Amino acid sequence: MTPKTKRIAINTGGGDAPGLNAVINSAVYAARNLGWEIFGIREGYDGLLDPQNYPDGGLVRLHRSTVRNISHLGGTILGTTNRGNPFKLRTVQPDGSVREVDRSKEVIRAFRKNRLDALIAVGGDGSLTIASQLLDLGLRVVGVPKTIDNDLDATTLSFGFDSAVSFATECIDRLHTTAQAHRRIIVVEVMGRHAGWIALHSGIAGRADAILIPEIPYDLNRVAAHTKWKTAGPRAYAIVVAAEGATPVGGEVIVRSRAGGVERLGGIGEVVAQRLQQLTGKESRAVVLGHLLRGGTPTAADRLLGLTFGAAAVRALAEGLNGVMVALHPPHVRYVPMKQAIARMKCVPLDGDGVITARALGITFGD
Ligand code: F6P
Repeated sequence: MTPKTKRIAINTGGGDAPGLNAVINSAVYAARNLGWEIFGIREGYDGLLDPQNYPDGGLVRLHRSTVRNISHLGGTILGTTNRGNPFKLRTVQPDGSVREVDRSKEVIRAFRKNRLDALIAVGGDGSLTIASQLLDLGLRVVGVPKTIDNDLDATTLSFGFDSAVSFATECIDRLHTTAQAHRRIIVVEVMGRHAGWIALHSGIAGRADAILIPEIPYDLNRVAAHTKWKTAGPRAYAIVVAAEGATPVGGEVIVRSRAGGVERLGGIGEVVAQRLQQLTGKESRAVVLGHLLRGGTPTAADRLLGLTFGAAAVRALAEGLNGVMVALHPPHVRYVPMKQAIARMKCVPLDGDGVITARALGITFGD
């Protein structure tokens, strides 16, 4: 792309993450500082495909004044969806049945019709996969990684993760006192899909007794033995952090639903709590943090990362780059090929500092 780029669009897709509004804020400021026009697409690509559903327009012009006071806010002012894949849009047919319809070419046509030169796609692996397919259809795209799960290999960190870990840690701190008062085992279920980053980091920071992560299959007999030993002493209570995607040795991940073609994990907390109660004889409770981890104010670190990524995405377009994703490689932001970036998931390394620290502190993984 040449510096004469004048009109660009930005959208947010997939589950929200604290820091999205910071990305939008800085992308708008950076674009306006170059004299470019920037537009926000409502709810992924839906604003382009079905603008009639949006009273104030599916494509909204963004000004500095529109975004001045949003970077400290959670959510996304553009809205988001994880059911808006334009290549497979679930559409209700006249007979009431649901069919997947490919409307991707309509997205490309809408870009042309609105004289949009490029897209900044802010999303996780699902949304960035869609963006890279639109790239194949000729759209100019720069991606910005977004996920509280921190599971994209190409970037050291994604925004939203720090906010999720900070909140989970605060919750674990609170659960210590009530668990202690009742001499209970409390199992705290956290999000993270098939990666254990949130569980590991909040579990260590909150000094859990056991942490169950997808990367290390667990044996509940071992977890029970460990918590029994812990609760036999003067402490008399235990905290177990369970990632929603953790699996028992030889077992399966617990899927809550597959409605709408979207796999939702969850339910491990209750299962583990009940089993630990049977195995240890200690009263046990489960607490599911779920979407609380995605809501609320982004931490300063997530705001900074979001602001950095938004500006870097505009810089990539100004430098003529296409098909790249912004990635943090401390102390720098780099541009990595988008297709490469979405190909690899970042799991917790078993020989990494996190796991080593947890083991040194006496935290069990139940392996
Ligand atoms: O990927 C982010 C994430 O929050 C996961 O940790 C979680 O499994 C999933 O999204 C839940 O998505 P939703 O409930 O929005 O469909």
